[in-house]
Amino acid sequence: MTYAEALEVTELKPGFGAEVSGVDVARASDAVHQDLVDIFQKHGALLIRGQTMSPDDLMRFLSAFGEPEDHTQTKFTLPGYPKIYLLSNKKDDTGEPIGAHFDGIGWHTDVSYREKPVMNTMLYSIEVPAEGGDTLLADCCAAYDALPAARKAELDPLVLHHSYLHLMETRLYGRKPITPEVIKDNPDVFHPLIRTHPADGRKALWVSTGTVKGIVGMEDDEAMALIDELVEFVTQDQFVFRHRWQPGDILTWDNRCTLHTGSLFDDEKYTRLTHRMWVKGDKPF
Ligand SMILES: [Fe+2]
Repeated sequence: MTYAEALEVTELKPGFGAEVSGVDVARASDAVHQDLVDIFQKHGALLIRGQTMSPDDLMRFLSAFGEPEDHTQTKFTLPGYPKIYLLSNKKDDTGEPIGAHFDGIGWHTDVSYREKPVMNTMLYSIEVPAEGGDTLLADCCAAYDALPAARKAELDPLVLHHSYLHLMETRLYGRKPITPEVIKDNPDVFHPLIRTHPADGRKALWVSTGTVKGIVGMEDDEAMALIDELVEFVTQDQFVFRHRWQPGDILTWDNRCTLHTGSLFDDEKYTRLTHRMWVKGDKPF
């Protein structure tokens, strides 16, 4: 692949993810942004460190990936920027939280409770804890590829039942009020367990926790045991990249072929401030 500028690309782990250096994203041309999108499409995740991004810079870069998506919860969006959502344990002068704390703990893929889940999630870190708070990404394509052929054939026809209500009722951290409007806007949906990537046809073992309530045609106990087994399989060390945050990192991952989880940090001792953005995706097949 030829890029508009000399971008240095290194894998985050063998066969998965890409870190690009030698680029100032805020000042880069649209052609360079398109190259970064191409790298993302191919590698499943993209990391660019040492960036200084205003909200407008973030919106411009995000828009290179596609149409930015609204956030399901709107309480912590950045004033004037409804597509930028604040993740933070900080409080304002009146003692009110400025962002969502504890979002995204537990292995999942974003917005899988919608008919068209988001394509990618982008995080831009401004303040990071000195320890803890890592983000882990699991490569669902490598996990699928590692399955024996007979197992692939067994899993291929399975369809998962995803539910936002189930997610909100069962999450351990960061529980939020569930209003009738949010429930109405997020009816249950059904997605294939084995998802095909639209860019090149690669297949992903697209399991998740949180939103997954069952498997079509299977008893709940049996279904949840299988889900647990598959999540454990996908999130083995060999398929996982652990990201240790620095301020100025941009990390975006492809929700069509990865699982991710945040991790806890000492929130009495450290502060975190991160901007989260989403880009619209298509219907899984
Ligand atoms: Fe997430």
